[in-house]
Amino acid sequence: MNILLLGSGGREHALAWKIAASPLVTKLWCAPGNAGIAQEAECVPLDLADHAAVIAFCQASKVDFVVVGPEAPLVAGIVDDLEAAGFKTFGPNQSAARLEGSKGFTKDLCKAHNIPTAAYERFKAAEPAKAYARSQAKPIVIKADGLAAGKGVIIAETIAEAEAAIDMMFSGGLGEAGTEVVIEEFLVGEEASFFALCDGEIAIALASAQDHKRAFDGDKGPNTGGMGAYSPAPATTPELTHRTMKEIIQPTVRAMKEMDAPFRGVLFAGLMITQQGPKLIEYNVRFGDPECQVLMLRLMSDLVPSLIAARDGQLKNFDLRWYDDAALVVVMASKGYPGSYRKGSVIEGLGAASAVEGVEIFHAGTRAEGGRITANGGRVLGVAATGTSVAEAQTRAYAAVDKIDWPEGFCRRDIGYLAVEREKAS
Ligand code: AMP
Ligand code: GLY
Repeated sequence: MNILLLGSGGREHALAWKIAASPLVTKLWCAPGNAGIAQEAECVPLDLADHAAVIAFCQASKVDFVVVGPEAPLVAGIVDDLEAAGFKTFGPNQSAARLEGSKGFTKDLCKAHNIPTAAYERFKAAEPAKAYARSQAKPIVIKADGLAAGKGVIIAETIAEAEAAIDMMFSGGLGEAGTEVVIEEFLVGEEASFFALCDGEIAIALASAQDHKRAFDGDKGPNTGGMGAYSPAPATTPELTHRTMKEIIQPTVRAMKEMDAPFRGVLFAGLMITQQGPKLIEYNVRFGDPECQVLMLRLMSDLVPSLIAARDGQLKNFDLRWYDDAALVVVMASKGYPGSYRKGSVIEGLGAASAVEGVEIFHAGTRAEGGRITANGGRVLGVAATGTSVAEAQTRAYAAVDKIDWPEGFCRRDIGYLAVEREKAS
């Protein structure tokens, strides 16, 4: 079959790598793709905001199945438009993508269905929001309702910080995303990510994976999209998986079906493991990036039939098999990320790095220019490796990182440290 993958990050490179390995695939395109994805798929320079152009490409190229990577096109309704034009598409439609597109929507759904989450209120104006923030314990969490590219959450330690965050959001500091604000209780515990493949009715838990959100070693510095990830995540015990499915994922899938917005796609729950058990911090409606990179390395089953089964409502009796090996990915980013950074610097040594045993390099923001690979984004490369333990995967990934010659880039040196410490202790 002919498949079109939408997106251009490290997540999409990992998806392209896994999809290209499927015997079911005749032809794979990726729009817009990047220099690494071009090794697995034919890249096409489509603007994903232009749904008509994507549909025209599908018609001209006889695409049988479309896979959507990032959240923005999902929230903008690209699945609705592709399906209406007759193209089977993996990913939630616009109404189901509200689980990521509107934090207020998700909080109300949790409240209505007793899904454990932080206590909250929704606001459309600054004054009542400030009055509420003043009345609550600190720290307090201020969130823009809509998609804000990772900048929409502020943990305010003082009332002054809370008021500044509220003013920033209501005065348009985050654009449309901040026209509504959610204020919620600060949860204490260990964070964990949880992924489930859903077909509108059935949800199947994927292997566990955990990312590191902060820019610098020791989980310090500003929040980013994710500086690395590993799988399995020892914090995700079988008991936690069981409770998360029963108390959070399954009630959500049921509630979405009841409101005529069945969720089909990957549901990615950000959890806080509190003393009372797992609580939902937020939902994303797609694979995590860079969590997807380690999940694809560990997935033994063919990915393509599972994506089709999720789209077709056929996950009942479906089974995904995983390798026992661990996987870990180190993100290499442009110096300055997540703030401003320069594009265009040259990256050398990728050949030597990918020759390290067990290593796979996923490109996130790269370009091919005159036979050379240059940096074209904030997060630029994901240097991934498998191993018999997280520790071995970590050693291999950093051995590969050390072969990459890119003075304008940086990475964390401690990805996976909590998992490695747990392995040593057990
Ligand atoms: P989000 O964009 O919703 O994932 O939030 C970004 C980060 O903010 C999360 O990964 C948490 O570390 C933190 N966070 C968000 N909401 C809360 C909360 N209610 N309590 C504690 N930390 C939170
Ligand atoms: N790594 C977190 C995310 O994809 O949002």
